[in-house]
Amino acid sequence: MMDAGRHPRIKLLTYSEIEEISGFVGNFHVKVRQKARYVLAGDCTACGECEKVCPIVVPDEYQQGFSSRRAIYIPFPQAVPSAYILDSRNCLGNNPLACGKCLEACDKKCIDYDMRDEMLEFNVGTVIVATGMDVYDPSEYDEYGYRSFQNVITSMEFERLICAGGPTGGHFVRPTDRKSPKSVAFIQCVGSRSTNGRGNPYCSNICCMNTVKDTLLLHDHYPDVQCKVFYLDIRAFGKGFEDLYRRSKEAGVQYIRGLPGEVTEHPETGNLVLTVENTLAGRIERHEAEMVVLSVGVIPRQDSEVVHKLLTLSRTSDGFFLEAHPKLKPVDAPTQGVYFAGCAESPKDIKDSVTQAGAAAARASILLNAGKVRIEAITSSLDEELCNFCNRCARVCPFHAITFGDKKLALYPRIIEAACMGCGTCSAECPTDTISMRHFSDAQITAQIDALLASNPQEKILTFACNWCSYAGGDNAGISRLQYPPSVRLIRTMCSGRVDEDFILHGFKLGAPIILISGCHFADCHYINAVTWTQQRVEKLWTKLDKLGIRPERLQLEWISAAEGAKFARVMRELEELRKQVTKEEIAETVKVLARDTKPKITRKQVDAVVEL
Ligand code: FES
Repeated sequence: MMDAGRHPRIKLLTYSEIEEISGFVGNFHVKVRQKARYVLAGDCTACGECEKVCPIVVPDEYQQGFSSRRAIYIPFPQAVPSAYILDSRNCLGNNPLACGKCLEACDKKCIDYDMRDEMLEFNVGTVIVATGMDVYDPSEYDEYGYRSFQNVITSMEFERLICAGGPTGGHFVRPTDRKSPKSVAFIQCVGSRSTNGRGNPYCSNICCMNTVKDTLLLHDHYPDVQCKVFYLDIRAFGKGFEDLYRRSKEAGVQYIRGLPGEVTEHPETGNLVLTVENTLAGRIERHEAEMVVLSVGVIPRQDSEVVHKLLTLSRTSDGFFLEAHPKLKPVDAPTQGVYFAGCAESPKDIKDSVTQAGAAAARASILLNAGKVRIEAITSSLDEELCNFCNRCARVCPFHAITFGDKKLALYPRIIEAACMGCGTCSAECPTDTISMRHFSDAQITAQIDALLASNPQEKILTFACNWCSYAGGDNAGISRLQYPPSVRLIRTMCSGRVDEDFILHGFKLGAPIILISGCHFADCHYINAVTWTQQRVEKLWTKLDKLGIRPERLQLEWISAAEGAKFARVMRELEELRKQVTKEEIAETVKVLARDTKPKITRKQVDAVVEL
């Protein structure tokens, strides 16, 4: 942080929030609200005279509430800039109740009660999202008594208690009697790897090694403290981690496999009693400890929703931001020019965060140094004459790559090719076929359908598979030598969002008994939320088919990931059974119905012609 603050080419905006981001790779426009700190940071020498006279005392968030701070304060010792900030929510301020003591005490006259938030605007080429993480609040685990017993603390609180810069100056004491405890119990996986509806299902990655480190720290500072760790399994992968774990065990730390079912407090001693099933010994045990540390997991930042909307990013089901590709583009966001660093993307330790930050900075600088962006040739294109200004394309585009002009001014939609990622959702949703996809045009896909159903269509299962997951799932099935029926015919699209209603109806018109649309699972779609439009489109189609007297189950929708080769093969086998149930008569009836139902699409030209009449 210090280095970043001093770097001549880094502009560090602290105490600021991004209000708006518009544009696209190489051309982002960012509006930042720099909040009023009521102290002129450039003039403040951090002498501390203001703090001494401030009468307001509130809990110190940085010290996890173990100590207090004043309304005028420095958030933490290494804060950049090293200047005071006035907490306007707690300060009496310059109103009739004002004490104004800090103003009087400040020789440099740095305090300005009239300071206002400032709006700053920047043009930037790339954005790195490094919003960090929050710590899980274990209050919902009633059985651990976090809210009931003062001597049950979280691993984050432990960090402050053992830290030389902490509220006790590094003296590890228990909150109730401020004496050094002689025994400490650590409970792992609190709020992580949970399947009982509380906490989160994922592993928080850092907790095991954090506890191992804490036990060694305690052993070094207080060799007579007895440590017990209650765990499910210790995940000590990574350079030197297994060695640390071994050292911890050699230092006498007891590792007991099993998570306590209950923590109670001894009424006289105030010690905590943990009841646990030791799954290695196969018995119920009771352990007493003077303090209990809950090894809490990490969760996505509370405000990640805001960043998610600002940058149209996608998130995984656990709330962390989704990278463009887990193996090939682990620091890239699906939106071009946006990169991730640290826990914004997934829980990770300091080393991994620093590695990812370096990679993100390198990725960003490659782009900036090149001065130009190489984009995929698969982007949308449009024929203005066909547009009827319905605005649907702009609404469904996951990347905001389509801007729409004013209908009265006859301004046509405009595709920002640098922002278009080529999912094809706009093309599939356009009711007048104004938008087409390069390399995946309607004509090209229709020609593939024609070719695949040219002979014996009643024996084919027409399948649209998205490039990233389902098509790869099919590959996986092949590589794994999994058998699936030879009746399957695949058409690859970049995303399931590209599958137009017309393709389905065309397939049925040509005599397809079963059509399958398959794509990535919801959180995995490589085009943010394009898959949600696929689902909506298919649901509408089911209703339409039903009204036409065509069995909706003849159109199937499946989410198959690249790793689910077995699922791909199973789905195909099930569809083969379904295909056998579709009779020739049913297919003939479908063809007849659809031939009657075909309506021409109304283009803008035709609308204009009717208006003129
Ligand atoms: Fe597979 Fe969107 S990329 S469904």
